[in-house]
Amino acid sequence: MDGKRTIAIMTSGGDAPGMNAAIRAITKTAIYKGYKVMGIKNGFKGLIEADMKEFGLTDVEDILHLGGTVLGTARLPEFKLPEVQDKAVNILKTYGITDLVVIGGDGSFTGAQKLSHKCEEPKHNYKCNVVCLPGTIDNDLACTDQTIGFDTALNTVVEAVDKIRDTMSSHGRCCVVEIMGNRCGDLSLFSSINTGAESLILAERPESFNVDKICEAVSDGVKKGRKCHIVILSELLTDASELSKTIEKRTGVSTRPSILGYIQRGGAPTAGDRMLATKMGVYAVDLLEKGYSNQIVSIRNNKIVNDDIDVALAMPRVFDEELWAMNDILSI
Ligand code: ADP
Ligand code: F6P
Repeated sequence: MDGKRTIAIMTSGGDAPGMNAAIRAITKTAIYKGYKVMGIKNGFKGLIEADMKEFGLTDVEDILHLGGTVLGTARLPEFKLPEVQDKAVNILKTYGITDLVVIGGDGSFTGAQKLSHKCEEPKHNYKCNVVCLPGTIDNDLACTDQTIGFDTALNTVVEAVDKIRDTMSSHGRCCVVEIMGNRCGDLSLFSSINTGAESLILAERPESFNVDKICEAVSDGVKKGRKCHIVILSELLTDASELSKTIEKRTGVSTRPSILGYIQRGGAPTAGDRMLATKMGVYAVDLLEKGYSNQIVSIRNNKIVNDDIDVALAMPRVFDEELWAMNDILSI
């Protein structure tokens, strides 16, 4: 390498535990390979504001175990506008950024893809290689079996629901627990299996939002001598408080709502997320060193792989029918 290349890193969209492990792996690998590294603050917002600084080894010391992202993150809806993307390209040129790693979800990937195409427009004629890493607790990306942050969030949810079960059992109650995931039910489905939830309402299975069936299951549970009833509710489907009131009114079983909220996005990354983020970070720098651009790094069948952003974003998400069926059996 000629020693003049500069890799910039940004985190964008919702933060996810393990983003810092990825930032550390990218920075260390890039420095090892002779790159200059720049840390861009707050995603695309920081890029257009030129809010960035050179990242050295000391900047990534003691961050492997930290949740959140030391680079900060933001949502900048205006990044859809070509004139805002033009501004970003000018900043990349000014700072001599030849390579960019974007860690985020599908929105951030679309932003990265547009930025890369913008660079290639004749008026800019600038080459900046872009590689993306999947960082989101939602696990909502078709190209990868797992996203950085999902395992930690799942463990956080499981721990919280176990605690909720303790108190609900003591009072003989039902609890509607609202789980994050945007429109993806993975956090809900996986946590339902791991906590032995009695009912599950999932975005991918609209028929599961059946109040009659849930109330029947709660009443049946009382007859069977169940001590409590946990209803896992994927966010954005209905109001957890209203559903709790309806269940209580119809069944006579004392019912409480519990919205887990942002606790699900914070906390130290699990070993699984640290490993995934580290492997993906190292792989991303290897791709850039080989001259790849417009790539998303994924894990499939336990192997780190890469796809063109267009190809990866066009992949259809396949719902795990087997897990869904398994959960159904285990919730009887
Ligand atoms: P995530 O990356 O977690 O999916 P968002 O959907 O909020 O999160 O996207 C993060 C950021 O990516 C947005 O705030 C915006 O700056 C950029 N972005 C998203 N969609 C687009 C798009 N269609 N064109 C350009 N930039 C986009
Ligand atoms: O994408 C991660 C996520 O935590 C989703 O699960 C949730 O719907 C959303 O972000 C919340 O976003 P905000 O931080 O803008 O409230």
